[in-house]
Amino acid sequence: MITGVTGQVARPLAISLARDNDVVGAARFTDGTARQELEAAGVRCVPVDLVAGDVAGLPGDADFVLHFAVAKTNDWEIDLAANSGGLAALMEHHREAAAFLHCSTTGVYRPEGHRVFAEDGPLGDNHGVWPFLRTYSICKIAAEATARWGAQRFALPTTIARLSVPYGDGGGWPAIHLHMMLSGSAVPVHTDAPSVYHPIHQDDIAAMVPRLLGAASVPATTVNWGGSEAVSIEEWCGYLAGLTGIEARFEPTVHTIDSVQIDTTRMHALIGPTTVPWREGMRRMAEARYPDKVR
Ligand SMILES: NC(=O)c1ccc[n+]([C@@H]2O[C@H](COP(=O)([O-])OP(=O)(O)OC[C@H]3O[C@@H](n4cnc5c(N)ncnc54)[C@H](OP(=O)(O)O)[C@@H]3O)[C@@H](O)[C@H]2O)c1
Repeated sequence: MITGVTGQVARPLAISLARDNDVVGAARFTDGTARQELEAAGVRCVPVDLVAGDVAGLPGDADFVLHFAVAKTNDWEIDLAANSGGLAALMEHHREAAAFLHCSTTGVYRPEGHRVFAEDGPLGDNHGVWPFLRTYSICKIAAEATARWGAQRFALPTTIARLSVPYGDGGGWPAIHLHMMLSGSAVPVHTDAPSVYHPIHQDDIAAMVPRLLGAASVPATTVNWGGSEAVSIEEWCGYLAGLTGIEARFEPTVHTIDSVQIDTTRMHALIGPTTVPWREGMRRMAEARYPDKVR
């Protein structure tokens, strides 16, 4: 069972899992093309709106649940209802599952310059600096609390994985930066340079999901989830610029999110390191998206 199945992260994951598993995908399916692609890959699509929390149409006997849906309407009431209430309904419905993976974000950490965040780091409104994502961090923090409650309430082994910067041929933040650079736009970076994250390739995400499920427990396991290499926006844009022969221009500002560098100790102990080197992953991404631009 995969929620958010039409999204950037879950869509390629569902398609790869459907090769060897019976996969049911949930979303509202606002994007009909995505549904067609998923069904062609063997994913059974079940429409669900997590705002209403009506998940009765989902198979109650799913072995594993991967929760990747996220509501980002920027409306507090709707986003809290979907991201927290919808999650509670989902966990209750799937209480008999062997394991539940809740995808969170490193955007739950309160920015503190170049602090390296372990899982007990301070939480705060990381993304609130972006007016278009003002509900995001707070809703993701609320959702983590709901996931912890659900794990205990339903004795449902759960992993809360705080994802850093996912990317791949299907897109992601580095792909947005490449698009901006090709369009002649400057890339916003925090004034407290460099802006450091842990980009993680879609192949590593797919490889690590079974291990994250294996780490599920009651009470819930919380773990950072990113590429083993720390890389800055300035570095990856510089590399993408070199690949395409364009210039990387930056716009330093305080009106963008600050570095979120993560301590990968627990991740490495539980699920091992990532395997796709960031330059290789980003080259593949650039070649897939702009085959005529990569030199
Ligand atoms: N992308 C990133 O850079 C990033 C970074 C860190 C963590 N994450 C986390 O990774 C997970 C996946 O993110 P993503 O970027 O793949 O998300 P996304 O591309 O925005 O996709 C969101 C998914 O949720 C579904 N959805 C939205 N509202 C819904 C509702 N009311 N009911 C049911 N489904 C709903 C959407 O489908 P419909 O619109 O068709 O319903 C879509 O399938 C999320 O937990 C996110 O917080 C992402």
